[in-house]
Amino acid sequence: MPDLAHLYFRTAILFLIAGICVGIYMSMSGNHAVTGAHAHINLLGWVTSALFGTYLALNPAKASGLLPRLQYFVYVIGVIAMGTSLYLMLDGNTALVPVVAAASLVAFAGVLLFAVIIFMPART
Ligand code: HEM
Repeated sequence: MPDLAHLYFRTAILFLIAGICVGIYMSMSGNHAVTGAHAHINLLGWVTSALFGTYLALNPAKASGLLPRLQYFVYVIGVIAMGTSLYLMLDGNTALVPVVAAASLVAFAGVLLFAVIIFMPART
């Protein structure tokens, strides 16, 4: 398995741990205000990262070069920034709305870069 695919799985499991911690916090406290952050950390962080890692594991030629590494950093930084700022915003820090918006665009840029990786021809 390419190093980048392995890195994606390591990152994904950390997002799952964080997402479940938020879920357990909500369950124990009865405060479900941060449901949106929980859902996005789990779905963008755990599920999507694991899918990106799976694709790269199945297509090792797509995992080499600068673009896949750039995509990883853009996507992961975007999801960390979005998950954190969304949690704080839903917890009452409404001033963070522009930060959530900016972080969302960074995460989306990571998704668009992955689309380029999928559509580009594999390096031989
Ligand atoms: C031990 C693990 C988990 C716990 C304790 C937990 C707990 C919760 C809680 C308390 C809510 C709020 C429900 C509400 O307010 O109606 C919620 C919502 C949600 N969770 Fe989890 N969760 C867990 C794992 C996951 C995982 C692994 C995923 C996705 C891969 C996930 C996706 C979602 C989504 C999408 C929602 C929003 C549902 C909606 O608003 O209709 N959760 N979770």
